[in-house]
Amino acid sequence: MVSVGIDAIEIHTGKLCLNLGETFAPAQGEDPDKYRKGLGLYTSSFPDSYEDIVTMGANAAYRLLDRTGHTPADIGRIDVATESAFDNSKPVSTYIAGCLEQVFDTTFHHANKGERKFACIAGTQSLNDAYNWIRAGRNRDRSALVIATDTALYARGDAGEATQGAGAVAMLISEDPSLVELSPQQGYGSADETDFLKPNQQFPSVDGKRSVQVYLARMREALSDYASVAGKMHPDDFAYIPFHTPFPGMVRKAGLLGYRHVIRDTNVEEELASEIGRQPRMEAFDDEETYLDAVSEYTDKLKDTERYREWYERVIEPTLDISRYVGNWYTGSVHVARASALKHALETGRDLTEKRLLVASYGSGAQAEAHTEMVQPGWKDEIAALTIDEQLEARHDITFEEYEHIHDVHNHDISEDDTEEFTTPENEFVFDGWGRMGER
Ligand code: CAA
Repeated sequence: MVSVGIDAIEIHTGKLCLNLGETFAPAQGEDPDKYRKGLGLYTSSFPDSYEDIVTMGANAAYRLLDRTGHTPADIGRIDVATESAFDNSKPVSTYIAGCLEQVFDTTFHHANKGERKFACIAGTQSLNDAYNWIRAGRNRDRSALVIATDTALYARGDAGEATQGAGAVAMLISEDPSLVELSPQQGYGSADETDFLKPNQQFPSVDGKRSVQVYLARMREALSDYASVAGKMHPDDFAYIPFHTPFPGMVRKAGLLGYRHVIRDTNVEEELASEIGRQPRMEAFDDEETYLDAVSEYTDKLKDTERYREWYERVIEPTLDISRYVGNWYTGSVHVARASALKHALETGRDLTEKRLLVASYGSGAQAEAHTEMVQPGWKDEIAALTIDEQLEARHDITFEEYEHIHDVHNHDISEDDTEEFTTPENEFVFDGWGRMGER
Protein backbone atom coordinates (compact mmCIF):
# COMPACT_ATOMS: atom_id res chain seq x y z
CA MET A 1 0.00 0.00 0.00
CA VAL A 2 1.43 3.37 -1.00
CA SER A 3 2.45 5.56 1.94
CA VAL A 4 0.76 9.00 1.85
CA GLY A 5 1.04 11.92 4.24
CA ILE A 6 2.49 15.33 5.00
CA ASP A 7 5.80 15.78 3.22
CA ALA A 8 6.51 19.38 4.23
CA ILE A 9 4.93 22.15 6.28
CA GLU A 10 5.31 25.93 6.59
CA ILE A 11 3.71 28.32 9.06
CA HIS A 12 3.08 32.04 8.52
CA THR A 13 2.00 34.17 11.46
CA GLY A 14 0.23 37.52 11.25
CA LYS A 15 2.88 40.20 11.83
CA LEU A 16 1.34 42.07 14.76
CA CYS A 17 1.40 40.94 18.38
CA LEU A 18 -1.14 41.75 21.10
CA ASN A 19 0.06 41.06 24.63
CA LEU A 20 -2.98 39.74 26.50
CA GLY A 21 -1.67 40.15 30.05
CA GLU A 22 0.00 43.54 29.66
CA THR A 23 -2.07 45.30 26.98
CA PHE A 24 -5.46 43.61 26.62
CA ALA A 25 -6.24 42.78 30.28
CA PRO A 26 -5.87 46.36 31.67
CA ALA A 27 -8.07 47.73 28.86
CA GLN A 28 -10.74 45.14 29.73
CA GLY A 29 -10.40 45.70 33.47
CA GLU A 30 -9.59 41.98 33.85
CA ASP A 31 -6.95 40.14 35.88
CA PRO A 32 -4.09 39.23 33.46
CA ASP A 33 -4.13 35.70 34.92
CA LYS A 34 -7.58 35.12 33.44
CA TYR A 35 -5.82 35.07 30.05
CA ARG A 36 -2.39 33.67 31.02
CA LYS A 37 -3.54 30.97 33.42
CA GLY A 38 -7.27 30.57 32.70
CA LEU A 39 -7.22 30.54 28.89
CA GLY A 40 -3.49 29.73 28.74
CA LEU A 41 -2.66 32.52 26.26
CA TYR A 42 0.17 35.07 26.54
CA THR A 43 0.03 36.87 23.19
CA SER A 44 -1.92 36.63 19.95
CA SER A 45 -1.06 37.29 16.29
CA PHE A 46 -2.89 39.84 14.17
CA PRO A 47 -2.53 40.59 10.48
CA ASP A 48 -1.10 43.99 9.57
CA SER A 49 -3.19 46.15 7.22
CA TYR A 50 -1.56 44.67 4.13
CA GLU A 51 -2.14 41.06 5.22
CA ASP A 52 -5.23 38.90 4.76
CA ILE A 53 -6.08 35.21 4.34
CA VAL A 54 -4.80 35.30 0.73
CA THR A 55 -1.43 36.90 1.45
CA MET A 56 -0.81 34.78 4.57
CA GLY A 57 -1.71 31.59 2.67
CA ALA A 58 0.36 32.61 -0.37
CA ASN A 59 3.38 33.51 1.76
CA ALA A 60 3.28 30.15 3.58
CA ALA A 61 2.75 28.24 0.30
CA TYR A 62 5.52 30.10 -1.53
CA ARG A 63 8.05 29.35 1.23
CA LEU A 64 6.97 25.70 1.17
CA LEU A 65 7.37 25.27 -2.60
CA ASP A 66 10.58 27.30 -2.76
CA ARG A 67 12.27 25.46 0.12
CA THR A 68 11.34 22.00 -1.13
CA GLY A 69 12.21 22.79 -4.76
CA HIS A 70 8.68 22.22 -6.09
CA THR A 71 7.12 24.22 -8.93
CA PRO A 72 3.45 24.50 -9.98
CA ALA A 73 4.00 21.61 -12.40
CA ASP A 74 4.49 19.30 -9.38
CA ILE A 75 1.15 20.26 -7.80
CA GLY A 76 -2.07 18.59 -9.02
CA ARG A 77 -4.45 19.94 -6.40
CA ILE A 78 -4.77 23.05 -4.21
CA ASP A 79 -7.31 23.09 -1.39
CA VAL A 80 -7.78 26.01 0.92
CA ALA A 81 -9.52 25.55 4.25
CA THR A 82 -10.86 28.74 5.79
CA GLU A 83 -13.77 30.17 7.71
CA SER A 84 -12.77 33.75 6.82
CA ALA A 85 -13.59 33.64 3.08
CA PHE A 86 -14.73 36.87 1.40
CA ASP A 87 -16.14 35.32 -1.80
CA ASN A 88 -19.07 32.89 -1.91
CA SER A 89 -18.28 31.76 -5.45
CA LYS A 90 -14.59 31.92 -6.36
CA PRO A 91 -12.48 29.79 -4.03
CA VAL A 92 -9.64 31.37 -2.07
CA SER A 93 -7.28 28.80 -3.66
CA THR A 94 -7.64 30.61 -7.02
CA TYR A 95 -6.57 33.92 -5.42
CA ILE A 96 -3.59 32.22 -3.80
CA ALA A 97 -2.64 30.38 -7.01
CA GLY A 98 -2.84 33.74 -8.81
CA CYS A 99 -0.31 35.23 -6.37
CA LEU A 100 2.05 32.26 -6.70
CA GLU A 101 1.88 32.32 -10.50
CA GLN A 102 3.36 35.82 -10.48
CA VAL A 103 6.57 34.37 -9.06
CA PHE A 104 6.87 31.02 -10.81
CA ASP A 105 7.45 30.62 -14.55
CA THR A 106 4.73 27.96 -14.84
CA THR A 107 1.02 28.11 -13.95
CA PHE A 108 -1.40 25.94 -11.97
CA HIS A 109 -3.75 25.58 -14.98
CA HIS A 110 -3.71 21.78 -14.68
CA ALA A 111 -4.44 21.77 -10.91
CA ASN A 112 -7.82 21.04 -9.30
CA LYS A 113 -8.58 23.92 -6.91
CA GLY A 114 -11.17 24.10 -4.19
CA GLU A 115 -12.21 25.54 -0.85
CA ARG A 116 -13.26 23.48 2.16
CA LYS A 117 -15.66 24.71 4.80
CA PHE A 118 -16.55 23.10 8.09
CA ALA A 119 -15.29 25.59 10.66
CA CYS A 120 -11.89 24.64 12.14
CA ILE A 121 -11.98 20.98 11.06
CA ALA A 122 -11.85 21.98 7.37
CA GLY A 123 -8.01 21.93 7.37
CA THR A 124 -8.03 18.28 8.43
CA GLN A 125 -10.81 17.49 5.96
CA SER A 126 -8.66 18.99 3.16
CA LEU A 127 -5.80 16.78 4.30
CA ASN A 128 -8.11 13.76 4.07
CA ASP A 129 -9.28 14.81 0.59
CA ALA A 130 -5.68 15.04 -0.60
CA TYR A 131 -4.88 11.67 0.98
CA ASN A 132 -7.89 10.03 -0.71
CA TRP A 133 -7.01 11.61 -4.08
CA ILE A 134 -3.48 10.23 -3.96
CA ARG A 135 -4.54 6.82 -2.61
CA ALA A 136 -7.12 6.58 -5.42
CA GLY A 137 -4.23 6.89 -7.89
CA ARG A 138 -5.58 10.05 -9.51
CA ASN A 139 -2.57 12.24 -8.72
CA ARG A 140 -0.34 11.22 -11.66
CA ASP A 141 2.82 11.61 -9.53
CA ARG A 142 1.79 15.05 -8.40
CA SER A 143 1.43 16.34 -4.84
CA ALA A 144 -1.42 18.27 -3.24
CA LEU A 145 -1.08 21.66 -1.59
CA VAL A 146 -3.33 22.16 1.44
CA ILE A 147 -3.50 25.64 2.95
CA ALA A 148 -5.35 26.44 6.18
CA THR A 149 -5.64 30.23 6.51
CA ASP A 150 -7.78 32.38 8.81
CA THR A 151 -8.16 35.72 10.51
CA ALA A 152 -9.96 34.56 13.64
CA LEU A 153 -11.42 37.85 14.82
CA TYR A 154 -14.41 38.35 17.13
CA ALA A 155 -16.57 41.43 17.68
CA ARG A 156 -15.11 43.77 20.28
CA GLY A 157 -16.57 42.98 23.67
CA ASP A 158 -17.35 39.35 22.71
CA ALA A 159 -15.98 36.79 25.20
CA GLY A 160 -14.06 35.23 22.29
CA GLU A 161 -12.08 38.46 21.76
CA ALA A 162 -9.28 37.22 24.02
CA THR A 163 -8.81 34.09 21.88
CA GLN A 164 -8.31 35.87 18.52
CA GLY A 165 -5.41 35.09 16.17
CA ALA A 166 -4.37 35.05 12.53
CA GLY A 167 -2.06 32.94 10.43
CA ALA A 168 -1.71 30.26 7.79
CA VAL A 169 -0.32 26.74 7.58
CA ALA A 170 0.69 25.29 4.20
CA MET A 171 1.18 21.53 3.85
CA LEU A 172 2.45 19.45 0.95
CA ILE A 173 0.71 16.05 0.75
CA SER A 174 2.69 13.43 -1.18
CA GLU A 175 3.54 9.79 -1.59
CA ASP A 176 6.45 8.64 0.62
CA PRO A 177 6.17 11.70 2.88
CA SER A 178 9.08 13.04 4.94
CA LEU A 179 7.11 14.26 7.98
CA VAL A 180 4.13 12.04 8.88
CA GLU A 181 2.27 9.21 7.21
CA LEU A 182 -1.52 9.38 7.52
CA SER A 183 -3.23 6.20 8.63
CA PRO A 184 -6.64 5.04 7.34
CA GLN A 185 -7.77 4.67 10.98
CA GLN A 186 -10.24 7.46 11.75
CA GLY A 187 -13.17 8.12 14.04
CA TYR A 188 -15.90 10.79 13.83
CA GLY A 189 -18.44 12.50 16.04
CA SER A 190 -20.88 14.84 14.30
CA ALA A 191 -24.19 16.62 15.03
CA ASP A 192 -26.18 19.63 13.82
CA GLU A 193 -25.21 22.37 16.32
CA THR A 194 -25.50 26.18 16.45
CA ASP A 195 -22.74 27.00 18.95
CA PHE A 196 -20.67 29.10 16.52
CA LEU A 197 -22.00 30.61 13.28
CA LYS A 198 -20.91 33.14 10.64
CA PRO A 199 -23.97 33.49 8.36
CA ASN A 200 -22.74 36.15 5.87
CA GLN A 201 -21.26 38.27 8.63
CA GLN A 202 -17.77 39.48 9.46
CA PHE A 203 -17.62 38.27 13.08
CA PRO A 204 -18.99 35.02 14.47
CA SER A 205 -22.08 34.68 16.64
CA VAL A 206 -20.85 32.46 19.44
CA ASP A 207 -22.36 30.82 22.45
CA GLY A 208 -18.93 30.47 24.07
CA LYS A 209 -19.77 28.33 27.09
CA ARG A 210 -21.94 26.02 25.03
CA SER A 211 -19.24 25.76 22.34
CA VAL A 212 -16.90 24.26 24.95
CA GLN A 213 -19.49 21.60 25.84
CA VAL A 214 -20.19 20.82 22.18
CA TYR A 215 -16.44 20.47 21.48
CA LEU A 216 -16.15 17.94 24.32
CA ALA A 217 -19.30 16.02 23.35
CA ARG A 218 -18.28 15.61 19.69
CA MET A 219 -14.69 14.82 20.68
CA ARG A 220 -15.90 12.11 23.06
CA GLU A 221 -17.86 10.53 20.18
CA ALA A 222 -14.90 10.79 17.80
CA LEU A 223 -12.54 9.14 20.30
CA SER A 224 -15.04 6.30 20.93
CA ASP A 225 -15.55 5.85 17.19
CA TYR A 226 -11.77 5.83 16.69
CA ALA A 227 -11.40 3.20 19.45
CA SER A 228 -14.00 1.02 17.67
CA VAL A 229 -11.66 0.96 14.63
CA ALA A 230 -8.26 1.02 16.31
CA GLY A 231 -9.09 -1.40 19.13
CA LYS A 232 -7.88 -1.12 22.71
CA MET A 233 -5.47 1.75 23.32
CA HIS A 234 -2.78 2.42 25.92
CA PRO A 235 -1.41 5.75 27.21
CA ASP A 236 2.02 4.87 25.76
CA ASP A 237 0.61 4.36 22.24
CA PHE A 238 0.96 8.00 21.25
CA ALA A 239 3.99 10.26 21.51
CA TYR A 240 1.69 13.30 21.31
CA ILE A 241 -2.01 14.05 20.96
CA PRO A 242 -2.43 17.39 19.15
CA PHE A 243 -5.98 18.65 19.72
CA HIS A 244 -7.73 21.53 17.98
CA THR A 245 -6.61 24.45 20.17
CA PRO A 246 -8.92 27.49 20.22
CA PHE A 247 -7.04 28.32 23.44
CA PRO A 248 -4.85 26.05 25.62
CA GLY A 249 -7.41 26.03 28.46
CA MET A 250 -9.79 24.15 26.14
CA VAL A 251 -7.14 21.48 25.60
CA ARG A 252 -6.75 21.07 29.37
CA LYS A 253 -10.32 19.77 29.30
CA ALA A 254 -9.87 17.76 26.08
CA GLY A 255 -6.67 16.16 27.43
CA LEU A 256 -8.56 14.64 30.33
CA LEU A 257 -11.12 13.24 27.90
CA GLY A 258 -8.31 11.79 25.78
CA TYR A 259 -6.69 10.16 28.80
CA ARG A 260 -9.94 8.51 29.85
CA HIS A 261 -10.13 6.91 26.41
CA VAL A 262 -6.53 5.71 26.23
CA ILE A 263 -6.58 4.12 29.72
CA ARG A 264 -9.93 2.37 29.28
CA ASP A 265 -9.64 -1.38 30.04
CA THR A 266 -5.85 -1.16 30.42
CA ASN A 267 -3.52 -2.02 33.30
CA VAL A 268 -3.28 1.76 33.94
CA GLU A 269 -7.00 1.99 34.69
CA GLU A 270 -6.66 -1.08 36.95
CA GLU A 271 -3.66 0.38 38.77
CA LEU A 272 -5.44 3.70 39.30
CA ALA A 273 -8.56 1.87 40.56
CA SER A 274 -7.23 1.47 44.10
CA GLU A 275 -6.67 5.24 44.25
CA ILE A 276 -9.77 6.63 42.48
CA GLY A 277 -11.91 3.65 41.35
CA ARG A 278 -12.59 2.52 37.75
CA GLN A 279 -14.23 4.90 35.34
CA PRO A 280 -18.01 4.51 35.18
CA ARG A 281 -19.55 2.36 32.39
CA MET A 282 -22.78 3.66 30.81
CA GLU A 283 -24.36 0.17 30.96
CA ALA A 284 -24.23 0.27 34.76
CA PHE A 285 -26.50 3.35 34.94
CA ASP A 286 -30.26 3.73 34.44
CA ASP A 287 -30.07 7.16 32.84
CA GLU A 288 -27.51 9.40 31.16
CA GLU A 289 -27.67 12.13 33.79
CA THR A 290 -26.50 9.93 36.68
CA TYR A 291 -23.87 8.38 34.40
CA LEU A 292 -22.52 11.86 33.49
CA ASP A 293 -22.47 12.88 37.17
CA ALA A 294 -20.41 9.78 37.96
CA VAL A 295 -18.05 10.55 35.05
CA SER A 296 -17.58 14.09 36.29
CA GLU A 297 -16.79 12.83 39.81
CA TYR A 298 -14.27 10.32 38.40
CA THR A 299 -12.68 12.97 36.15
CA ASP A 300 -12.20 15.36 39.07
CA LYS A 301 -10.24 12.68 40.92
CA LEU A 302 -8.32 11.58 37.81
CA LYS A 303 -6.95 15.02 37.04
CA ASP A 304 -5.27 15.22 40.44
CA THR A 305 -3.39 11.93 40.07
CA GLU A 306 0.38 11.99 39.60
CA ARG A 307 0.04 9.53 36.75
CA TYR A 308 -2.29 11.80 34.76
CA ARG A 309 -0.25 14.93 35.44
CA GLU A 310 2.95 13.25 34.20
CA TRP A 311 1.18 12.01 31.03
CA TYR A 312 -0.35 15.44 30.33
CA GLU A 313 3.04 17.18 30.69
CA ARG A 314 4.64 14.71 28.27
CA VAL A 315 1.90 14.08 25.68
CA ILE A 316 -0.27 17.22 25.61
CA GLU A 317 1.57 20.23 27.03
CA PRO A 318 4.21 20.39 24.21
CA THR A 319 1.40 20.72 21.63
CA LEU A 320 0.51 24.11 23.14
CA ASP A 321 3.91 25.86 22.97
CA ILE A 322 3.15 27.87 19.81
CA SER A 323 -0.56 28.35 20.40
CA ARG A 324 0.12 30.22 23.66
CA TYR A 325 1.79 32.95 21.58
CA VAL A 326 -0.44 33.09 18.48
CA GLY A 327 -4.05 32.50 19.65
CA ASN A 328 -6.69 30.68 17.61
CA TRP A 329 -6.01 30.18 13.90
CA TYR A 330 -9.23 28.20 13.36
CA THR A 331 -8.46 25.81 10.45
CA GLY A 332 -4.68 25.97 11.03
CA SER A 333 -4.87 25.46 14.79
CA VAL A 334 -4.52 21.66 15.06
CA HIS A 335 -1.73 21.74 12.45
CA VAL A 336 0.11 24.32 14.56
CA ALA A 337 -0.38 21.97 17.54
CA ARG A 338 1.21 19.05 15.64
CA ALA A 339 4.15 21.26 14.54
CA SER A 340 4.54 22.54 18.09
CA ALA A 341 4.84 18.99 19.49
CA LEU A 342 7.37 17.88 16.86
CA LYS A 343 9.40 21.06 17.40
CA HIS A 344 9.44 20.38 21.14
CA ALA A 345 10.71 16.84 20.48
CA LEU A 346 13.47 18.15 18.22
CA GLU A 347 14.55 20.74 20.79
CA THR A 348 14.61 18.21 23.64
CA GLY A 349 16.44 15.52 21.64
CA ARG A 350 13.55 13.04 21.55
CA ASP A 351 13.58 10.66 18.58
CA LEU A 352 10.11 10.30 17.13
CA THR A 353 10.76 8.19 14.05
CA GLU A 354 7.96 5.62 13.71
CA LYS A 355 6.24 6.98 16.80
CA ARG A 356 2.49 7.59 16.51
CA LEU A 357 0.43 10.76 16.94
CA LEU A 358 -3.30 10.84 17.60
CA VAL A 359 -4.52 13.99 15.86
CA ALA A 360 -7.85 15.26 17.22
CA SER A 361 -9.55 17.95 15.12
CA TYR A 362 -12.75 19.84 15.82
CA GLY A 363 -15.00 22.21 13.90
CA SER A 364 -18.02 24.02 15.34
CA GLY A 365 -21.37 23.26 13.83
CA ALA A 366 -20.15 20.54 14.75
CA GLN A 367 -17.77 17.69 14.00
CA ALA A 368 -14.74 16.08 15.60
CA GLU A 369 -12.31 13.63 14.04
CA ALA A 370 -9.51 11.55 15.56
CA HIS A 371 -6.95 9.87 13.31
CA THR A 372 -3.47 8.40 13.65
CA GLU A 373 -0.27 9.51 11.96
CA MET A 374 3.16 7.86 11.98
CA VAL A 375 6.24 10.11 12.20
CA GLN A 376 8.65 9.52 9.29
CA PRO A 377 12.48 9.42 9.22
CA GLY A 378 12.74 12.87 7.56
CA TRP A 379 10.85 14.65 10.35
CA LYS A 380 13.87 16.32 11.97
CA ASP A 381 15.02 18.18 8.83
CA GLU A 382 11.47 19.22 8.09
CA ILE A 383 10.82 20.64 11.56
CA ALA A 384 14.29 22.24 11.76
CA ALA A 385 13.37 24.26 8.65
CA LEU A 386 10.43 26.00 10.39
CA THR A 387 10.98 29.73 10.90
CA ILE A 388 8.16 30.29 13.38
CA ASP A 389 10.48 31.40 16.23
CA GLU A 390 12.06 34.10 14.05
CA GLN A 391 8.64 35.21 12.84
CA LEU A 392 7.29 35.48 16.38
CA GLU A 393 10.36 37.43 17.45
CA ALA A 394 9.94 39.86 14.51
CA ARG A 395 6.27 40.68 15.26
CA HIS A 396 5.42 44.28 16.09
CA ASP A 397 3.91 44.75 19.57
CA ILE A 398 0.75 46.83 19.30
CA THR A 399 -0.72 49.20 21.87
CA PHE A 400 -4.40 48.90 22.69
CA GLU A 401 -5.17 51.90 20.43
CA GLU A 402 -3.26 50.23 17.57
CA TYR A 403 -5.19 47.03 18.25
CA GLU A 404 -8.49 48.91 17.93
CA HIS A 405 -7.29 50.48 14.68
CA ILE A 406 -6.20 47.17 13.12
CA HIS A 407 -9.41 45.46 14.26
CA ASP A 408 -11.40 48.22 12.50
CA VAL A 409 -9.22 47.92 9.38
CA HIS A 410 -10.00 44.22 9.08
CA ASN A 411 -13.67 44.94 9.72
CA HIS A 412 -13.52 47.41 6.76
CA ASP A 413 -14.48 50.26 9.09
CA ILE A 414 -11.54 52.49 8.09
CA SER A 415 -11.07 54.21 4.75
CA GLU A 416 -7.97 53.34 2.72
CA ASP A 417 -6.55 56.85 3.24
CA ASP A 418 -6.74 56.52 7.03
CA THR A 419 -5.31 53.01 7.19
CA GLU A 420 -1.99 52.66 9.01
CA GLU A 421 0.66 49.96 8.55
CA PHE A 422 2.77 49.03 11.56
CA THR A 423 5.42 46.92 9.81
CA THR A 424 7.11 47.09 6.42
CA PRO A 425 6.51 44.23 3.98
CA GLU A 426 9.68 42.59 2.77
CA ASN A 427 9.85 40.09 -0.03
CA GLU A 428 6.30 38.89 0.49
CA PHE A 429 2.81 38.99 -1.00
CA VAL A 430 0.77 41.98 0.15
CA PHE A 431 -2.90 42.88 -0.04
CA ASP A 432 -3.12 45.87 -2.30
CA GLY A 433 -6.77 46.85 -2.54
CA TRP A 434 -9.38 44.63 -4.16
CA GLY A 435 -6.99 43.54 -6.90
CA ARG A 436 -4.84 41.58 -4.42
CA MET A 437 -1.66 42.18 -6.36
CA GLY A 438 1.07 39.75 -5.40
CA GLU A 439 4.39 41.48 -4.85
CA ARG A 440 7.69 40.03 -3.83
N1 CAA B 1 -6.78 33.44 37.29
C1 CAA B 1 -6.76 32.17 36.81
N2 CAA B 1 -7.80 31.65 36.09
C2 CAA B 1 -8.86 32.45 35.83
C3 CAA B 1 -8.93 33.77 36.31
C4 CAA B 1 -7.83 34.28 37.07
N3 CAA B 1 -7.81 35.51 37.55
N4 CAA B 1 -10.10 34.30 35.88
C5 CAA B 1 -10.75 33.34 35.18
N5 CAA B 1 -10.00 32.23 35.14
C6 CAA B 1 -10.30 30.95 34.48
C7 CAA B 1 -11.73 30.50 34.65
O1 CAA B 1 -11.92 29.76 35.86
C8 CAA B 1 -11.91 29.65 33.41
O2 CAA B 1 -11.28 28.39 33.61
P1 CAA B 1 -12.12 27.02 33.46
O3 CAA B 1 -12.71 27.03 32.09
O4 CAA B 1 -11.10 25.95 33.65
O5 CAA B 1 -13.17 27.08 34.49
C9 CAA B 1 -11.07 30.37 32.35
O6 CAA B 1 -10.17 31.21 33.09
C10 CAA B 1 -11.88 31.26 31.43
O7 CAA B 1 -12.64 32.13 32.21
P2 CAA B 1 -14.18 32.38 31.86
O8 CAA B 1 -14.87 31.06 31.61
O9 CAA B 1 -14.76 33.29 32.86
O10 CAA B 1 -13.97 33.15 30.46
P3 CAA B 1 -15.04 33.77 29.52
O11 CAA B 1 -16.40 33.31 29.84
O12 CAA B 1 -14.80 35.23 29.46
O13 CAA B 1 -14.60 33.17 28.12
C11 CAA B 1 -14.99 31.43 26.52
C12 CAA B 1 -14.38 31.78 27.88
C13 CAA B 1 -16.52 31.47 26.64
C14 CAA B 1 -14.55 30.04 26.11
C15 CAA B 1 -14.54 32.50 25.50
O14 CAA B 1 -13.14 32.53 25.41
C16 CAA B 1 -15.11 32.27 24.10
O15 CAA B 1 -16.27 32.54 23.82
N6 CAA B 1 -14.25 31.80 23.17
C17 CAA B 1 -14.64 31.63 21.77
C18 CAA B 1 -15.31 30.30 21.55
C19 CAA B 1 -14.34 29.14 21.71
O16 CAA B 1 -13.16 29.25 21.49
N7 CAA B 1 -14.88 27.99 22.09
C20 CAA B 1 -14.06 26.79 22.22
C21 CAA B 1 -14.81 25.56 21.75
S1 CAA B 1 -15.42 25.83 20.08
C22 CAA B 1 -14.05 25.66 19.09
O17 CAA B 1 -13.04 25.15 19.49
C23 CAA B 1 -14.13 26.17 17.68
C24 CAA B 1 -13.33 27.42 17.59
O18 CAA B 1 -12.15 27.37 17.26
C25 CAA B 1 -13.97 28.69 17.88
